[in-house]
Amino acid sequence: KGDPRLQAISEAISVIPHFPKPGIMFQDITTLLLNHKAFKDTVDIFVERYRDMGISVVAGIEARGFMFGPSVALAIGAKFVPLRKPGKLPAKVVSQAYELEYGTDCLEMHIDAIQHGERAVVIDDLVATGGTLSAAMKLLECRGAEVVECACVIGLPDVKRQPRLNGKPLYILVEPR
Ligand code: PRP
Repeated sequence: KGDPRLQAISEAISVIPHFPKPGIMFQDITTLLLNHKAFKDTVDIFVERYRDMGISVVAGIEARGFMFGPSVALAIGAKFVPLRKPGKLPAKVVSQAYELEYGTDCLEMHIDAIQHGERAVVIDDLVATGGTLSAAMKLLECRGAEVVECACVIGLPDVKRQPRLNGKPLYILVEPR
């Protein structure tokens, strides 16, 4: 992609081996959040991409999508919609289950958070299998939103080579370290 900001963003992410389980190389974005320039560049890259695309909804996935999504939403003049783990949202929700390595999990969204026909982007920190983002897309689409694209800071090389999910583009900044 050639954006000179990407290398510093990648280097600001820490890798914690064997967390939370043996064999996992955990991509820790908290050190990116500590680095003002890298954090701002990350948000700016998303803002530059989405500001003129007629986006009115930025949906962020709990928990780490909440650390990037709201800044992007404010900067592009969109609303922020939190997609949460089950039982956290107080009003009427739609729910979407998705597969994990072992078992299933679920995301929920307030039914009244979006209007039919709104254009949305979904933001998270990392995409691995894409199961979480797919569930997020389904939630928005079942309420009539158009998911224009999903965006993640980190994507596995496989996903980065084939950056589409459910027929929509997937925008990834860096590979895991
Ligand atoms: C991580 C990450 C993504 C998801 C990606 O979240 O932040 O949301 O996994 O995995 P996938 O592409 O295989 O679906 P996690 O489940 O650890 O939840 P948390 O952010 O609440 O800790």
